[in-house]
Amino acid sequence: MKVLAIETSCDETAAAVVEDARVVLSSVVSSQTDLHAAFGGVVPEVASRAHLELVGPVVSQALEQAGTAPGELSAVAATIGPGLVGSLLVGASAAKAYAWAWGLPFVGVNHMEGHLHAAFLEDPSLSLPTVVLLVSGGHTMLICMQAGAAEGSIEYRLLGETIDDAAGEAFDKVARFLGLGYPGGPAIERVGSEGRADAVAFPRGLAGQGYDFSFSGLKTSVVRYMRANPRAPLADVAASFQEAVVDVLVAKARKAAREVGAKAICIGGGVAANTSLRERVTAACREDGLAAFIPSRRMCTDNAAMIGATACYRLRTDGPTRLDAPVDPNLRLPLV
Ligand code: KG4
Ligand code: ZN
Repeated sequence: MKVLAIETSCDETAAAVVEDARVVLSSVVSSQTDLHAAFGGVVPEVASRAHLELVGPVVSQALEQAGTAPGELSAVAATIGPGLVGSLLVGASAAKAYAWAWGLPFVGVNHMEGHLHAAFLEDPSLSLPTVVLLVSGGHTMLICMQAGAAEGSIEYRLLGETIDDAAGEAFDKVARFLGLGYPGGPAIERVGSEGRADAVAFPRGLAGQGYDFSFSGLKTSVVRYMRANPRAPLADVAASFQEAVVDVLVAKARKAAREVGAKAICIGGGVAANTSLRERVTAACREDGLAAFIPSRRMCTDNAAMIGATACYRLRTDGPTRLDAPVDPNLRLPLV
């Protein structure tokens, strides 16, 4: 089964060809980061227009790199939510048009489910149940991925999520406040690598209280600290902020894995590109005798290969999606 997948939920225009949910024949990602950097964040209207210009060339490149002709495809998939509505519409409409023109089924994919499946693409030995820490610009969720009742099916159980800002959002807001630019995660990581993580004792939101997360108090605390200590070295503040985020993420994922009897901890979403988080999850798993699934950085950030892999799975379990299916900016994960 070869699937052409398109991802345009935020500010990356991406297309990929994936075979049998496991083999990535091509994965093209065109980032709009430079377009939005001047505004300090993603401008939805600018994003939609850029997707419109890029989606055709990116799809052509993905097919060419995969050496795949439309006639060899089994389906065309696209992200239908959650995300920016204008951006989602561009990718989903393009995918439906290709599907209709080539006489192929269309598969609408949930972006978050895509992030959950990303690890499988690189490590087919991933065994369930697995606790997945999904940390992106819009979401922070702790999910237990477990085998469903039907043969080969997978269920998602939500263990906890953020009650205010997402982890990536906290990185972006703090970076903007510190004048480090956009996107904030990589900027904080870069600047913080020169600083001391124990320089400032920032609060660990909701530490020891279940599996929900809170990052808005941490953000306020950075603002207060800088107002009181305007000459504080930015490297120390960035490193200490990052440490506070990573500490809670790792502690809660670890506790969850222990309580649900998981075989592994897996990370996904843009924040999973963070080196400190990757190292700390790996170390925690080693100590707890668990497998650690740390996808490559390009598989953690938004891409279409993860959408293609999920589409293969969904096509098998649910069949194709109707061509009149809408996009949904607030689409939720199907949870048990
Ligand atoms: O998953 P993603 O690419 O897009 C969304 O679906 O949101 O995640 C983007 C988020 C941004 O908030 C960005 O600052 C954060 O991931 N991010 C990082 C790093 N790289 C990207 N956060 C911390 N450290 C990084 N190295
Ligand atoms: Zn994402």
